[in-house]
Amino acid sequence: MEIERIRALRERALRELAEASTQEQLATWHARYLGRRGEITLLLRGLGSLAPEERPMIGRAANDLKEELQQAYVRQETAVRERELAARIAAETIDVTLPGRTPRIGTLHPVTQMIRDVTNIFAHLGFQVVEGPEVEYGYYAFDALNIPPEHPARDVWDTIFIESEHEEIVLRPHTSPMQIRVMERRQPPIRVVVPGRCYRYEAVDATHEWHFHQIEGLAVDERITMADLKGTLAEFARQLFGRERRVRFRCDFFPFVEPGVDFAIDCMFCRGEGCRVCGDSGWIEILGAGMVHPQVLRNVGYDPERYTGWAFGMGVERLVMLTYGVPDIRYFYQGDLRFLQQFDRIVP
Ligand code: DAH
Repeated sequence: MEIERIRALRERALRELAEASTQEQLATWHARYLGRRGEITLLLRGLGSLAPEERPMIGRAANDLKEELQQAYVRQETAVRERELAARIAAETIDVTLPGRTPRIGTLHPVTQMIRDVTNIFAHLGFQVVEGPEVEYGYYAFDALNIPPEHPARDVWDTIFIESEHEEIVLRPHTSPMQIRVMERRQPPIRVVVPGRCYRYEAVDATHEWHFHQIEGLAVDERITMADLKGTLAEFARQLFGRERRVRFRCDFFPFVEPGVDFAIDCMFCRGEGCRVCGDSGWIEILGAGMVHPQVLRNVGYDPERYTGWAFGMGVERLVMLTYGVPDIRYFYQGDLRFLQQFDRIVP
């Protein structure tokens, strides 16, 4: 009987609708029952072939069923949509109480840290920090510093030359040329320190790099003496390496100073007993220094009878190696984070 079929159809449709829990399943259900080729649509279309006396009753039942299923579909569809939305909101919720990912913060290169430490000490002793060119005229790098063209000492600085038709141009092999540049521009009193990058034509090994850093110092005024040099360097060494440091000055030669000295501190690792760091000598050489040569003063137009001065120059990488026991200078410029991250002191 038609009416029985409609009742069975209704039950099946409603049961399947109740089981449809996703938009996809709902769409499948809708196509199966209410779509253009759906069972209800076909049912209504088939009414015409019924006996005329059956038609009104079956027709109403079929139309009622269509109406009921459409409403049930809308209810179910709304419920599914709301449930899916709620699930998505729950899944996408951000837990603001979770700890964030810490961004990786870099640190200053150990050479930069050392330059800051050293220049800070001298700044507090009344020195001004100045910088100068890394590409330099031969005149400033050598001639004005009392190293004339044929002087054998010129070979000491294994220089990288820049090709030039007219003038000798070099990558500065030391920061000393800045002594000349500063004195040319100013009149005494002068107290400056000059940190900077230097270059040498050199085979690279554990203690030599073809580029490195120096810090130059220069003090010029009336009545400046070697005692001022000794006092200033001793105070500097004690601020950097500890108040208990003992200091040593020995004769040395540099063309631009007279007399020249090398400056050493007692080894802070063995306190002068002798160890691997100080090569069993108990002393660590820190820098070269001396009284500015009268010829150098004359070269910048100063009267050496009126003005005297002293200068010093130190290697920055060497200072870092001594302070932290770095065994190989090549580590500084390989960009290896495992090395660099060990120097993670925060420097303002
Ligand atoms: N310029 C020298 C060098 O590179 C270091 C030096 C020695 C600088 C003595 C000075 C000084 O100012 O007085 O080896």
